[in-house]
This record gives sequence, C-alpha cells and structure tokens, in this order.
Amino acid sequence: MPRLRHYLAAQAFFVFLLFSSIASAAIVEHVFHVKNVLVKPLCKDQMIPAVNGSLPGPTINVREGDTLVVNVINNSTYNITIHWHGVFQRKSSWMDGADMITQCAIQPSNNFTYRFEITGQEGTLLWHAHTTNLRATLHGALIIRPRSGGPYPFLKPYKEVLLIFEQWWDMDVGLIATRPAPVSDAYLINGLAGDSYPCSKNRMFNLKVIQGKTYLLRIINAALNKHLFFKIANHNVTVVAVDAVYTTPYVSDVMMLTPGQTIDALLTADQPIGSYFMSISPYNSANQGSSVPPNTTTRGLVIYAGATSASPVVTPSMPGMDDESTAHRFSSNITGLVGGPHWTPVPRHVDEKMFMTIGLGLELCLHPDNTKHCLVGGEQQLSGSLNNYSFVLPKTISLQEAHFYNVTGVYTSDFPNEPPLKFDYANFRAHNDSEGKMMYPERKTSVKTLRFNSTVEIVLQNTKIVTSESHPMHLHGFNFYVLGYGFGNYDPIRDERKLNLVNPQMHNTVGVPSGGWVVLRFIADNPGTWMFHCHMDVHLPFGMIMAFIVQNGPTPETSLPPPPSNLPQCTRDPTLSESPKTSVDLSY
Ligand code: C2O
Ligand code: CU
Repeated sequence: MPRLRHYLAAQAFFVFLLFSSIASAAIVEHVFHVKNVLVKPLCKDQMIPAVNGSLPGPTINVREGDTLVVNVINNSTYNITIHWHGVFQRKSSWMDGADMITQCAIQPSNNFTYRFEITGQEGTLLWHAHTTNLRATLHGALIIRPRSGGPYPFLKPYKEVLLIFEQWWDMDVGLIATRPAPVSDAYLINGLAGDSYPCSKNRMFNLKVIQGKTYLLRIINAALNKHLFFKIANHNVTVVAVDAVYTTPYVSDVMMLTPGQTIDALLTADQPIGSYFMSISPYNSANQGSSVPPNTTTRGLVIYAGATSASPVVTPSMPGMDDESTAHRFSSNITGLVGGPHWTPVPRHVDEKMFMTIGLGLELCLHPDNTKHCLVGGEQQLSGSLNNYSFVLPKTISLQEAHFYNVTGVYTSDFPNEPPLKFDYANFRAHNDSEGKMMYPERKTSVKTLRFNSTVEIVLQNTKIVTSESHPMHLHGFNFYVLGYGFGNYDPIRDERKLNLVNPQMHNTVGVPSGGWVVLRFIADNPGTWMFHCHMDVHLPFGMIMAFIVQNGPTPETSLPPPPSNLPQCTRDPTLSESPKTSVDLSY
C-alpha cells in the first residue's frame, strides 16, 4: 500500500527529526569579561570597554536549537547589558538585554548570566551592549548554523569569513555621547582601519583566497550611526541571507547595510590571480548635514593565492555618499526564500493595522531633564518620535518588571495606531497651528499592547519635519516581512496592491527610506516586552523608540515566565545613564 508506506516513511522521518533535534541540541557556554582595555586602531592609545580584551569582541558559534549561556562579568566602569540582536528569545524575553525595557543594567563589579534557546533561525546575527552608546566597542558576531551539521540551502562554501564593520572615534567612548557629537574618525573592518588613515597603513584586513573557490561572507554592520556601502573590486557576490533569514540568491556588485543589519553572501574567487580591494563607505540617505570621517573609505584586501607583489591591485569604485537609487535598488530587490528552512508564508489576515510616522522633531529645552544639555544660547534641541510620542525610558524599574508585577505609574498603554494628525508627511510644512504642533512630540513612556498571536501590520511613514533621512527600524523579539518600500506618502489605494505577499524578505532591521515608507508584518506570538526603535544609536536618546507588550497566550507554555531570581535591579542614580541630547546641530 503506497499510502501506508508513505505514511510510515513520514513517521520515521519525524521520529528522526525529533531524535536528531534532541541529540544535537547542545549547551554552548561563554564567559564575557567586560573590562576597560587599551587599543590603538589609529595613532592614539584609547581605553575602551571590551569583551575579553578584543575589538570586535568574541564570536559566538551555535547550531539552531542550541541553548546559549553567557556569563557577563562586568569589571568595566560602565553600566551594561548585552542584547542578542535578532534572536527571537522565545519564552525568554527576560534575556533580551534591553536596558530599562527587559532589565536594569549590570553594574560595575556585578555579573549576570544570560541563558536562552536559539530556535527557528539560521545565519549571522550580532550581540552588542544596549546601554547608552557602549555598543560602539562592545559588539561581536553570533553565528547560527543549521542543526546536526545540516546543509545550507546553497552551495557549500569552501570557507566562511566574518566581516564586522565598525565606526571608530579616536577618543574616550564616554565623549561620543556628548553634544554636539564629534565626527567619527574612521570605519574599521574587523577592528582594522587599513591604509586610508594615519598609523594604520600596515594594519589592513586581508582575505586570502584560492582561485575557483567559493567563500561565505558573514557581514555585520556594527557601526553606531552609519549606513554603509560594501563592494569588492571586479567581483559580484550572491546574497543568500539577510538578518539570519535565507533569501532567494541575489547577485550584486554592491551591498548596503544599515546599522544593525547583517548579510550572508557567497563570494567566488573567479577573477584572474591578483589582489583586489574591498571597500566600505558611508551612505548618507539624505543631505542631512551629517559629518563623515575625513577619509570616508576603508579598505581591506582580497589576495589570490599565487598573486605576486607585481600582480595588479584593483580598487572598487564606490557609489557616491548620496546614491539613494543604488541603496534602494539593493535593499528593495531582495526576496525571501519560499520553502527554505524556517520559511513561513505571509499571514493574509491582519488583526492590528498601524500607521506609524517616524522622524525627527524638536523640543524646547525647558524640560527639567534636559536644560543642562541645551547648548548655551540654544532654545531647542532635536527630538525623535513615533506617532508623535517621544519615548522616555523608565528610570527605576524595567518596563517588563512593571508589566509583570503590575506596578503602576511606569508606563501607559496608549500608544496610538496612527499619528494625531494627517498631514503631508514627506514634504512637511507647518501651514497652521496643529501642523506646527507636529514639530514638538510629546515625551512619554507609552506602549502598545498586542493580543497573543495577533498579526500586526505597520506602515512606517518617514516624515520630513526637521530633516529626512533613512531610519533603520529594529524590532526586538521578532522578524517581520517587509512587504513594500516606497517614496513619498504611503497611499493605501495605490500602494497596497503592490505589496509583496508571496516572497517578501524578512528582517529584524529595515531602513525606512528618506521621505518614504515601508510596510511590515509580523505575528505577535512571543509574550513579553519588545522594543521597536531606530538603530542609529544617536537617535535612541532622542526618543525614537516605542515598545510592544505581547500578552500571554492561554497556557503556561505560551506565557511569560517569572524573571530569573538574579535579574539586576536598578540602584544607580538614574540621571547618570541618561545621554545628553544635542542642540539643533545635525553633525554626528
Ligand atoms: Cu541592536 Cu535594540 O538593538
Ligand atoms: Cu533614526
């Protein structure tokens, strides 16, 4: 009976899957010693907080299904948390490491152990500090390979290569948060500034390749505030995953990553034996007046085995800093790998439709928290908002503890599904008083409560109130489908039918185009408190943040467990951790 045989075969296969998942799930343990160390990427020694003494920090390798245990021992002089950027944290929201959202920070001379399972995702992610601007130096790769050594859904690479892009300030990290923000001094590839900067000429990242072989590049943009273009001279790459979600193979000669995004791409050494530069350079999504390092390209080298010093060295020609069409083409053309590992079809029914404006506004310096940060003579400073609410982090207890223990007075559950006013978002001009008010968002700790398992759609509309630029919006705890990207004001009649419900790419971080929009969708199937914020670090203290609280499901299995007994508590002076804001000076 073929039916029965089929059934038995399927049964056996499931038993095998179950067995293999039990057999292969490992516990991967790490100790993160955080302390201040001296490094010297450019000409000066700098004291930075670092994990286990290195910049970038240690790489974590796991297989999907493993449990990761990281004991963070804080011997630095800073309050820190570590966030596992892009990890779903199913039933482990307490381990998300979002300062004042899921925990209070680990104070100097204290420690905390993060422990969580990594399931349902494969590819490259990153970990980073989630307190003030400390992720500038506290970051590293988190690589999730298929369980049981299973195959990738693409050609097996000969080798894997990690590329972490960083933004470097040649000064005390504490000063990066001062205002006006100083211009960064360099971009780094795996901690190396290369030949574009003084004192680092001989410290360049080198990738040695063998002609004909294929390499898997695991690329992370760990820069605090810059979208980056990446290119290798004379070579195309094939993108196979973004944000640890497989994509339809996409061939390109150039890539663009927003802060917080990751790309897995195959590089075949298919060119004549020689040496080829790889370069990263900033993408300024609008002429936002922001400053860039004096020498804006950082180079590394791809060297073929057999290349002699006489072999030609080829330099890639980089897109211009304002090349929006190249950035947009790359970002919007990638599609999801339907039927690939962990792929789930786009839910068609939407329970919660939100239209969220996002952008920079202003606030008067009269607020008691802020007076000290206004520049002499300045009356206003930048503010950031979503639906005209500028988020204020709780100060004495984390949002999730307040939620879990029903502590009142910490937040309000009134985050609106749309902005207080409809206006010409992409071409703002204050025609009247109510439009004028849109320039001054309200400071609040406002959250949006979601029913367990509801499908949420968000149209993110970028505004042009003070300035317009691409904001890389990052959601904790979930991946979302990116159903569409566009410029101007989102028009439900014109734009909705163009949304991709078939094979959209998925992300945890998406750049909302300058003066444009994106539409995203996710299923709120993980109870807990989840931050949604701009991943340009400079916009966090501006308040470009909101939070979702996903309610419990019907069973203990679908409910937020109690916090771990040793969750760090807030005893610090809360004013110490608040980053100062800038006056209306757009340089960073
Ligand atoms: Cu990678 Cu809330 O951040
Ligand atoms: Cu932003």
